[in-house]
Amino acid sequence: MKQKDSQTVESDQQYMEYAADILGHDIFQSLDDYIQHGKTTCKIHCLQVSYFSYRICWKAGLDAKAAARAGLLHDLFLYDWHTYGKQTGKRFHGFTHPRTALNNAERYFNLTDKEKNMILRHMWPLTPIPPSSREGLILVFADKYCSSLEILAHIKKTAFRKLGIKPVLRHLSR
Ligand SMILES: [Fe+2]
Ligand SMILES: [Fe+2]
Repeated sequence: MKQKDSQTVESDQQYMEYAADILGHDIFQSLDDYIQHGKTTCKIHCLQVSYFSYRICWKAGLDAKAAARAGLLHDLFLYDWHTYGKQTGKRFHGFTHPRTALNNAERYFNLTDKEKNMILRHMWPLTPIPPSSREGLILVFADKYCSSLEILAHIKKTAFRKLGIKPVLRHLSR
């Protein structure tokens, strides 16, 4: 089996090469202006989903480049979804944002058909059509896994604060 030492995103040269044009683009960096879950911004969420998907695909001998790129762009909807429904009357963010993200991604970046399909189908099974590739299914899993961790971390922090608990075990508060 192939080996890859655990490393940071920045020190992973192959990942950085695949993702360079996206990471260096202002439109991707602007995702830091929007909260996704809890205190996690859309930029951090997309980075986590991207790198997690990339590593799984790399280990499995799949298309790690597609995973890296589609992961970074899967939530490029460019608005605050917490207030978007109230402000615009469009209340189906969960169903519509994959198409919005894909439209934005196509506008700024060159993508393969597989990467486009991965972005468009990443909310399956909420949206009824599944991704057409194994990399797309891995992105679906990575998105839900990372989202759950982000939400749980926020709930834990909020609950501790509201209850006035200073955790004896420091790692519980992170
Ligand atoms: Fe999404
Ligand atoms: Fe996401």
